Amino acid sequence: MISLKTKAEIEKIRSAGMIVAGAFEVMRENLKPGITTAVLDDLANEYIERRGGKAAFKGYHGYPANICISIDEEVVHGIPGERRIEAGQLVSIDVGVLLDGYYGDSAYTFLVDGVSPEAKKLARVAEEALYRGIEVARPGGHLTDISWAIQSHVESNGFSVVRDLVGHGIGKKMHEDPRIPNYGKPGAGPLLKEGMVLAIEPMVNQRGYEIETLKDQWTVVTKDRSLSAHFEHTVVVTANGPVILTGGRFTCKI
Ligand code: MF3
Ligand code: CO
Repeated sequence: MISLKTKAEIEKIRSAGMIVAGAFEVMRENLKPGITTAVLDDLANEYIERRGGKAAFKGYHGYPANICISIDEEVVHGIPGERRIEAGQLVSIDVGVLLDGYYGDSAYTFLVDGVSPEAKKLARVAEEALYRGIEVARPGGHLTDISWAIQSHVESNGFSVVRDLVGHGIGKKMHEDPRIPNYGKPGAGPLLKEGMVLAIEPMVNQRGYEIETLKDQWTVVTKDRSLSAHFEHTVVVTANGPVILTGGRFTCKI
């Protein structure tokens, strides 16, 4: 069952989402070669708590950190620790916040100075794919219109979309119905309706779409160890079109 959120609920999700967006500003300011991913995790958590929120991933199915940081061939769910950020890395950060009973969830892939042109293109195409998906999240459309918008953009640029992980509805729970695959033919699945709140999150691999999980039981990597990028926004479907609840698009210059 896909719940339709009231105006008041949407504002609560937006309030959580604005804390997520603020945490990304903190990440952007501090993501430099030499910093450890554990320090980034701490900075995000301090920011979130100062704003009255709770880092949503901590303890989720036993997840041990506050945010996810996934570097280069890591796709998602990388666990922050003593690893240091290096020049040339592709750093995907995923942040979820719980505030006043509602969740916001977003991800962004940062380019640390000196990334290859191919890595830059991968991140650009993944971000464009997210916005292509958001653009078709409108009343009267079907769920898989989002999937197709993402897949077609990614594949026409020579990359692949991860198939085993999906976007999701979000609200009172971090993961609600529907599952939102990032691939599939358009015009199928549930009709999109005003008040649906969706976390749309393409994960885009440089080569094959296959993934595997490392021995830490969390870190998902590309099977062929090619690079991967991940972008996510929490979006509400309205009569006037999609509205992003986790802050606007921002340009990242590191
Ligand atoms: N942000 C992820 C998602 O969108 C959730 C992270 S899983 C966790 O589904 F276990 F790390 F919390
Ligand atoms: Co998500």
